[in-house]
Amino acid sequence: MKKPASSFFRRRKNKAREIPITLQKKQPGKLVIEQTRDLAPVQAMLADAGMITDGLEWPPACYIVAYFGTELVGCVGVEPMLDAALIRSLYVIEAMRTRGIGAALVTAARKAAHTRGAKSLYLFSTDAGGFFKRLGFIKVPVPQLVEALAGAPQVEYYRARPDEFAREVAWYLDISQDGVILR
Ligand SMILES: CC(C)(COP(=O)(O)OP(=O)(O)OC[C@H]1O[C@@H](n2cnc3c(N)ncnc32)[C@H](O)[C@@H]1OP(=O)(O)O)[C@@H](O)C(=O)NCCC(=O)NCCS
Repeated sequence: MKKPASSFFRRRKNKAREIPITLQKKQPGKLVIEQTRDLAPVQAMLADAGMITDGLEWPPACYIVAYFGTELVGCVGVEPMLDAALIRSLYVIEAMRTRGIGAALVTAARKAAHTRGAKSLYLFSTDAGGFFKRLGFIKVPVPQLVEALAGAPQVEYYRARPDEFAREVAWYLDISQDGVILR
């Protein structure tokens, strides 16, 4: 005979039904930045923008999205490797630019990288270097990035395409002090 569920279990079951699917409710006019496992909309947005979509599904990677109301307006990816991480696929739809969403996505990516043990944050950027410089990133030799992040999908994507790779610029940010409380 089936054992009757305890009252504790019944309470938990009812409680679970009340938990919303997203922790932050998407409301009209409200910006929400959150981690996602649903990569299909991210892939579609990046493809529409003509950005690289190879390697999105790499299991250790983390993807963060920005929603304005119910509209997906931006995204960023983090590819962690031991104590370094690569920011990739940063994109904000044109209509929503210069409102701080790009910087907010980088901040979220930085937190995600730090949480995963990264002390160094890298990225490739040919056109948006000025944007990242304002956020504290400095230009470094590409081999430095490759040494720290060999095996990460975005690095391997470029290594397989020497012509594109030769044009890439590497950027770096020391995040080893993130979360350190100075007394
Ligand atoms: C780069 C990008 C993510 C910025 O998004 P955003 O939401 O507009 O960013 P923010 O609002 O936080 O910052 C905007 C500021 O950055 C500046 N900025 C944006 N792109 C820049 C670039 N390529 N070079 C220099 N500065 C740039 C803007 O002029 C603006 O300056 P202001 O505050 O003085 O007006 C967005 O322009 C984008 O998606 N670009 C195409 C994809 C891309 O280049 N991705 C980065 C490489 S992976």
